[in-house]
Amino acid sequence: MKEKDMDELSRKIQTCQQCDLGMVRKNPVIGEGSLDSKILFIGEAPGFNEDQKGKPFVGRAGNILNELLEHINLKREDVYIANILKCRPPENRNPKKNEVDLCTPFLDAQIDIIQPQILVPLGNFSYRYLFSKYNIPIDKISVDHGKLFKKQTILGVLHFFPMYHPAVATYNPNKITILLKDFETLDNFLEKPLISIHG
Ligand code: URA
Repeated sequence: MKEKDMDELSRKIQTCQQCDLGMVRKNPVIGEGSLDSKILFIGEAPGFNEDQKGKPFVGRAGNILNELLEHINLKREDVYIANILKCRPPENRNPKKNEVDLCTPFLDAQIDIIQPQILVPLGNFSYRYLFSKYNIPIDKISVDHGKLFKKQTILGVLHFFPMYHPAVATYNPNKITILLKDFETLDNFLEKPLISIHG
């Protein structure tokens, strides 16, 4: 059932030409991982390597994400990894509002299919998008990273655990320490019932 729904969604994304990115991408990056995952990691948009391979987080940021997952004994196949935008913005520029408006129904559909317990926005862009969509007060990612937020939705209770984008560790090595600590905190939440609430 989940597989069938995700296959159908994938076909729509593969042929999507709603915005200009559809014309310039090499491959759309739909997402990958377990459809039964409790955790959904959400990055910003594919970069060069992701566009080449059609897979999320396979470049330098992906190596860091792999290291972070390994740190808490998770494999990529155990979680699901997606992005706000499914196609690469040229020169890795920030996503534009119309691109986000046109593309995020795909992410919403992925959330409906997977029904994760925890959404993990990776980076400021994803954090702002998800907090705004779910009406959670937005502060700064430097304040909210590594904390669990809880929200009642029509799907039931959803949890949010914002983190810095793994790419920050490529230009600021101190951030890897923070990311490792935040992954440890996430791991603690995964081991017990999700009851801690911020916001
Ligand atoms: N950065 C992202 O936000 N997503 C990817 O898939 C790769 C790099």
